[in-house]
Amino acid sequence: MQVTARAQPNIALVKYWGKKDVERNLPAVGSLSITLDALWTSMAVEFQPGLGADSLSLNDAPAPALLPRVGRCLDTVAGPDRPRARVISECNFPVAAGLASSASAFAALVVAADAACGRSRDRLALARVAGAASGSAARSLYGGYVELASGADDIDVEQLARPADWPLTVVVAVTASGAKPVSSTDAMQRSAAPSPFYARWIEEQAEDLALARTAVAARDFEALGAVAEHTCLKMHSVMWTSRPAVVYWNHVTLRCLQAIRELRAGGHPVFFTMDAGPQVKAVCLPEAAATVAATLGAVDGVAKIMTSGLGDGARVLESA
Ligand code: DP6
Repeated sequence: MQVTARAQPNIALVKYWGKKDVERNLPAVGSLSITLDALWTSMAVEFQPGLGADSLSLNDAPAPALLPRVGRCLDTVAGPDRPRARVISECNFPVAAGLASSASAFAALVVAADAACGRSRDRLALARVAGAASGSAARSLYGGYVELASGADDIDVEQLARPADWPLTVVVAVTASGAKPVSSTDAMQRSAAPSPFYARWIEEQAEDLALARTAVAARDFEALGAVAEHTCLKMHSVMWTSRPAVVYWNHVTLRCLQAIRELRAGGHPVFFTMDAGPQVKAVCLPEAAATVAATLGAVDGVAKIMTSGLGDGARVLESA
């Protein structure tokens, strides 16, 4: 049976950076995110007893480099003695460029593979399996506003509010195309701990999460923006002061940040966030979206603008 599932990337407003347990990919901190709707990854998975090896295609081209990580995830879902699988992936946005493509990819993969091998894990169990493959993927199992708590032995993930409860818009400014120089997995594993800011980063996370949770419950855009920009800049400070240093920004990234700060000073409800890449995500109230998109689109060096509302969690599209 071939099962196709779809998931959307999520953008963390309180960031995950650092690992408590590398082997099990347990995040060092909790995080809080919003799931998008306009960007997506679909995964079609079929286990075929006759196959000699797994195969993976991405947007119609073979993708052998991604196969080992996909294979390990399939082992977790279906067991190490599973039949080999044919996996066909489609993604409507740039991959490995700091746009959370691994989050949507692994969320879709576990949902498709779980159904294809006849298991029916509940959502939290699926989120835990996805999180073992990529920490942020656990959040894409859920839609809208999502909180991930990092416990001693496992993660817990829950939806705080549905997309329709508080429909924000995200405008993504693509400042560079192509894959990022170092993956988030490598960056946080190799270099986060030596940062002099890392201990403080861990220490303050509970407080940042509480502020963001309260802001979501109260639909307080200003408070959410304040904590989101703070945790984003703190995470990048940890990256910059890691050894070796990890710097994802480019000069266009900075121009976009400046443009967003000026928009806000002019009364437009918008704040920024950035992840492991140079792309800038502007989160705004829907009435500001057109102005934010036009302003960022006019920033010298911005290659592309993508606009998205908030969307639902990973789900099966079809079984055949
Ligand atoms: C900067 O989930 O990509 O986007 O668990 O190693 O796969 P792995 O890392 P990943 O890290 C995402 C980091 C981030 C912040 C976030 O999404 O919370």
